[in-house]
Amino acid sequence: MPGYELFGPEERKEVNDVLETGILMRYGFDGPRKGIWKSKELEAEICKKLGCNHTQLVSSGTAALTAAYAALGIGAGDEVIMPVFTFVASFECILSVGAIPVLVDVDETLTLDPEAVRRAITPRTKCIMPVHMCGAMADLDPLLQICTEHNLILLEDACQSFGGRYKGKYLGTMGHAGTFSFDFVKIVTCAEGGAIITNSQDLYTKLDGFSDHGHDHKGADRGADLHPFIGYNFRISELHAAVGLAQVRKLEQFLSMQRKSQQQLKAILSTIPEVSFRHVPDPGGDICTFVSWFLPTEEITRAVVAELKQQGALAGNFYWYDNNWHYIRKWDHLKEAASLYKLTDPQRTALLALGTTRFDPSDKIMSRCISTAIGLLWTEEQTREKGEKIVAAIRKVLSRIKIPA
Ligand SMILES: Cc1ncc(COP(=O)(O)O)c(C=O)c1O
Repeated sequence: MPGYELFGPEERKEVNDVLETGILMRYGFDGPRKGIWKSKELEAEICKKLGCNHTQLVSSGTAALTAAYAALGIGAGDEVIMPVFTFVASFECILSVGAIPVLVDVDETLTLDPEAVRRAITPRTKCIMPVHMCGAMADLDPLLQICTEHNLILLEDACQSFGGRYKGKYLGTMGHAGTFSFDFVKIVTCAEGGAIITNSQDLYTKLDGFSDHGHDHKGADRGADLHPFIGYNFRISELHAAVGLAQVRKLEQFLSMQRKSQQQLKAILSTIPEVSFRHVPDPGGDICTFVSWFLPTEEITRAVVAELKQQGALAGNFYWYDNNWHYIRKWDHLKEAASLYKLTDPQRTALLALGTTRFDPSDKIMSRCISTAIGLLWTEEQTREKGEKIVAAIRKVLSRIKIPA
């Protein structure tokens, strides 16, 4: 990760196809584009790869989530249950459609704890959104079970996990819809882009219109399109889709390179009995962009982070507990409801309540967690060197800080 590490002639070829026609927009211009439809081609490629009926490309993962909520009919006053460990886009999209993010604890899968989800259900709950963080999956079976019992929508945020699987099925295909990001740091990147996948024709028709000002796309003349509902501009460009097309075709190559390095690094870290690992419900479905590991206490974890920093070896090792983007502890703007425009009263009340809500089970997990990002181009030698540096730092810390009995 990320896919740009392996940009090559394939990406250049696809982009040049578009530049030769000069048609950078995904809709219209049927004559001059001379049969070049990169967005449509990428949508078909994603459907084929993931085994789903429909893919709608959009301009980002954030746009994908927003369009998904809109198309699923989630809006003012509806509650969406989401994890406290994710990216800020998760709550931004919920708020932008007028709905209320209900944040709940994660477990050692680093995503939704099903029991915490159960406790958070109210008559206003409309949707559960697991976030398949850091390349691996939520335990979907219990979450699907809860959705069935309570007649709720399951939206999979697979923005960080394109190509991941759970019990033989691709992430994003098991809920009502799934979303992906192709931003610059993702396994498959096109600089900025995203996608929503679904098996529902009705949902797809809504996504198709919503992401292009509500156009119904029924004829060849955009000016004559009808607008059955209000939409916005979340379109992807042909240039971005062209890069994405080349990248998606290289996915299997990316996965096998990362798997090898991740397994090697994990084996090196496993030599320390005090290190444990994230629970991955289906290890074979991990896309191996990270290895996430735990130390026994927050004190030891902080000391290891400090030691790695001192050695100049911290880069690529993420201590999410202190990270401004990914964990609720640092989301003061959310807890203060710091919105530039007026939120609804229920939204404001729910956000301000987050300021005094405790997430002790998540704190206990996240304060001991470090995720090491796996480079696509790491050689065996480089992986060994990185692993040994981490192991040396851990050993040094464990020699001076004792684990409480
Ligand atoms: C879990 C998650 N959801 C949504 C997004 C938003 O994707 P984008 O950056 O393409 O808007 C990201 C981006 O990092 C993410 O990690």
